[in-house]
Amino acid sequence: MLTIALSKGRILDDTLPLLEQAGIVPTENPEKSRKLIIPTTRDDVRLLIVRATDVPTYVELGAADVGVAGKDVLLEYGSHSLYEPLDLQIAKCKLMTAGPVGVPEPRGRLRVATKFVNVARRYYAEQGRQVEVIKLYGSMELAPLVGLADKIIDVVDTGNTLRANGLEPQEIIAHISSRLIVNRASMKMKHAELKLLIDTLEQAVETRC
Ligand code: ATP
Ligand code: PRP
Ligand code: MG
Repeated sequence: MLTIALSKGRILDDTLPLLEQAGIVPTENPEKSRKLIIPTTRDDVRLLIVRATDVPTYVELGAADVGVAGKDVLLEYGSHSLYEPLDLQIAKCKLMTAGPVGVPEPRGRLRVATKFVNVARRYYAEQGRQVEVIKLYGSMELAPLVGLADKIIDVVDTGNTLRANGLEPQEIIAHISSRLIVNRASMKMKHAELKLLIDTLEQAVETRC
């Protein structure tokens, strides 16, 4: 049995067409079902529906063999044991700093609101910049508007969310896309099945590009 961890929304939407190329089609709509374990048209493959930020945890600890996670989530999770054999080239965006339009940075300690606290600490440490990192779980764009923080770090695609809140994109921290991740033990124990899946997905990604 191969267990694949996916999150609802854009990752599921963009991954299902790729999985279909490997003959893997969910037998019920994961977006609508209340079930969190979804069987597929392949008896040997099932899907787990988890939060985007939980995908690396399920895969690293072996509850799932394989998963799909944004590079932003992987950078924040910071595992050294997960395999990352394939860039699926989906859910592309940029991890960026952003701040209020036309407001200069404060000279002293910078207050940065983000859900990517590890990425934020690493980024400013590399620059030798003193920061106070404020952990949020969403709606980061609000923080500078109400004086909670000077800046945010979040993913940016069109920039519409920033613009709608009077913020502007500033520095690019990383270019982001979603990656196939594989559990280290699964890669050994289920090598033939996983190699076939990875090769098929790689083909599907190439023909899509
Ligand atoms: P949750 O909704 O559980 O808090 P999330 O917001 O991270 O999690 P998604 O919005 O589905 O979940 O994002 C999944 C991945 O897609 C992110 O990790 C990121 O890599 C990418 N992503 C996020 N926002 C965008 C966007 N606006 N455009 C393109 N890709 C994005
Ligand atoms: C993501 C992200 C930004 C927005 C950026 O939110 O958290 O808010 O997209 O995209 P843009 O530059 O094209 O505006 P998402 O749509 O995932 O909603 P969420 O807040 O529910 O995560
Ligand atoms: Mg989101």
